[in-house]
Amino acid sequence: MLVYLNGQYVDHSEARVAVDDRGFVFADGIYEVIRIYDGRLFLAEPHYARLRQGLSSIRIESGAPEALPVIANRLIAENGLQDDDAILYIQITRGAAPRKHAFPPPGTAPTVFVSVKPFPRFSEETYESGQAAVTTPDTRWARCDIKSIALLPNVLANQTAREAGAFEAIFVRDGVLIEGSHSNLLGVIGGEVVTYPECNYILGGITRRFVLDLARGLGIPVREGPIFVDRLDEVEELFLCGTTTEVMPITRLDGRPISDGRAGPITRRLGKSYREATLSASPASV
Ligand code: PDD
Repeated sequence: MLVYLNGQYVDHSEARVAVDDRGFVFADGIYEVIRIYDGRLFLAEPHYARLRQGLSSIRIESGAPEALPVIANRLIAENGLQDDDAILYIQITRGAAPRKHAFPPPGTAPTVFVSVKPFPRFSEETYESGQAAVTTPDTRWARCDIKSIALLPNVLANQTAREAGAFEAIFVRDGVLIEGSHSNLLGVIGGEVVTYPECNYILGGITRRFVLDLARGLGIPVREGPIFVDRLDEVEELFLCGTTTEVMPITRLDGRPISDGRAGPITRRLGKSYREATLSASPASV
């Protein structure tokens, strides 16, 4: 596959980053993942906006976000993905410089890497049957709103899920289920879609915002609030959402069924609307 690295389009096997790149040494960087459906980027603009916001939060100055529509189009075309489902991965670090914690000298160029890879949709059966999740204590830092490449707690949490035969690990903070290791969490309580409020403890998911808008459009009430881990008997439905996760019913948590252990009606409705929206993804250049 062809990838983009620092202004060049090169074969993946030939792309090289310096060993003193601050992404490698300090995880000093930001990333984004954007879904491509039928060769077209889905919700690209809000992803670019979050990338710009993240770069500004950690004080990396890079013009790369402005060039992304062109880079994305070229990677899709040159990798022959015009009709395929895929993901676009973007990573920008503070660049390569001798290891010192403080920022490198002015003029140090950020490292910009962009790649695409095929990423098929889940099967209808996967959505229908729902998935299992496990809970795990949230040991992350207090700026989870920044899409930092420092993902060790997320990696360890997701591995815990994998070893338990589950689809996702859900972080618990102060007795509240807040989000997954790489997805946001929503529930249905009393007929309302409930999800943890956007704040520094979760990533403000682009899919989460889109799904909440879909719910409002369908006349389903939405509330940003807690889902308590010790009040799961009140939870009628549970589901995850995210760029790679889409709208995924969670039917078992820590081995116990949620409600009757089947994907619930509101989750199914939102999942269907979401999948319909992905069929009309906007062209990459827009
Ligand atoms: N992860 N929460 C966390 C911790 C995430 O890492 C992600 C996405 C989300 C969902 O955000 P969005 O809807 O904008 O994709 C929520 C990406 C897909 C990843 O790390 O691969």
